[in-house]
Amino acid sequence: MTPSTAPAPSTLPLDLVIFGGAGDLSVRKLLPALYMAHLHNNLPAQTRIHALGRQPWDRTAFLAFIEDKVPGFIDATARTETTWQGFLQRLNYVSLDATRAGDFTSLGEALQAGSDRVYYLATAPSLFTTICEHLAGASLIDVRSRVVLEKPLGHDLASAKEINDSVGRHFLESQIFRIDHYLGKETVQNLMVLRFGNTIFEPLWRSPYIKSVQITVAESVGVGSRAGFYDSTGALRDMVQNHLLQLLCIVAMEPPVSLDPDAVRDEKLKVLRSLRPMTVAHVARDTVRGQYSAGASGGDKARGYLQEDNIPPDSTTETFVALRAHINNWRWANVPILLRTGKRMAERRSEIVIEFADLPYTIFPDAPRQPVNRLMIRLQPEEHVQLQMMAKEPGSGMRLRPVNLNLDLELAFSERRAEAYERLLMDVIKGRLTHFMRRDELEAAWTWVEPILDGWKQLNEKPKAYTAGTWGPAASSALMAREGSAWVEES
Ligand code: BG6
Repeated sequence: MTPSTAPAPSTLPLDLVIFGGAGDLSVRKLLPALYMAHLHNNLPAQTRIHALGRQPWDRTAFLAFIEDKVPGFIDATARTETTWQGFLQRLNYVSLDATRAGDFTSLGEALQAGSDRVYYLATAPSLFTTICEHLAGASLIDVRSRVVLEKPLGHDLASAKEINDSVGRHFLESQIFRIDHYLGKETVQNLMVLRFGNTIFEPLWRSPYIKSVQITVAESVGVGSRAGFYDSTGALRDMVQNHLLQLLCIVAMEPPVSLDPDAVRDEKLKVLRSLRPMTVAHVARDTVRGQYSAGASGGDKARGYLQEDNIPPDSTTETFVALRAHINNWRWANVPILLRTGKRMAERRSEIVIEFADLPYTIFPDAPRQPVNRLMIRLQPEEHVQLQMMAKEPGSGMRLRPVNLNLDLELAFSERRAEAYERLLMDVIKGRLTHFMRRDELEAAWTWVEPILDGWKQLNEKPKAYTAGTWGPAASSALMAREGSAWVEES
């Protein structure tokens, strides 16, 4: 693999070009994140943001669209009229059909002379190849250019390789930023500090001191307006292949030799390559697919997945996955890794739970039959780390009860916490690759995930129904029970 040293930051003008610039991601995440970076003076002085789209708008029409749509996604307290107007000054719109080479000449004319260029591809991946070819054809790529690839990066291994190959024909690996917004979350980055900036956990961070690892990314929202995308994708591709596996990598990797992009990504890659391959028998035993049926969410009635707009009434797409994985290396031998994610679950909660080993023997006859020590790392919506320990209940006798040592990160730090996209966009601008996926990482993730998809196809079972607003199908609890364990909310 070519060493991934991105171009060093420069003082040249910057052109940030967003393909899909009037799309959902741009409106909800990218432009609000860039506004915040602008507000905090973090954008290089001569930064121009070019939104590209097929709408035949001029700049004025685009700005009217932005004025209407974007402010709703910016914290009202962060918006002053002066900064907002200053931000709008940076914006430009280029009407462009990515399939027409000629349109790229107009794009070239809109860019500043001698600028650094960041191309953010927030379009369907089917356009990535064409966009890169046309950028190259119009001589808009040089050694300082960077390209940001938004997910989904493929729907299987072959399509992921195809994307990598076609983008790789025009950009070096060191110029490619494959974004996984989970890697931009403050708490996810903090996980590295928890593990490698402290001495207390690392000696215990292994088999047999750890009994199991649970990673949950639960959402309370349903499929929303993304039926077209979601129904052909499903929870495994949408969440597990990227976000959950990336979290797992950070939890399970060996200490990297430094924070250099390749040092970190080499270690994450080893985790992905050590995952025990899933045979059909493993898929049948160790995975649970679910689909939400009508129920409630946040006190309101919620439709079932099959009743959502534009979802085929006979869809078998999973909106929930739970699975048990194993990492075949010395550190993690025999430690089950339980992953689960779903839409329309009981609450929005992303959490990593490290369950430490049971007591070898207890001298307390009244000790409760429940996990003794757990480290619970809440990533969202709250950000905290709790260490569950046993303590003596006051009174005569020796009754034990679990209590938590509680580190509330929001209370501990009063500093502003940037959203994931803002942090990652700043990394792209500064050429920092550590929190982006390397080609081999992406392919290793697909190599592990693809047999699960194949296994499900062979087994040809419908997803198990779970009521909207619950923690998923009963089979998910049964999967844990087989480990002599339980999901954290059940124990
Ligand atoms: C996206 C998925 O990558 O992550 C969505 O495509 C999901 O389906 C989202 O809702 C969750 O992100 P977050 O930051 O809200 O946890």
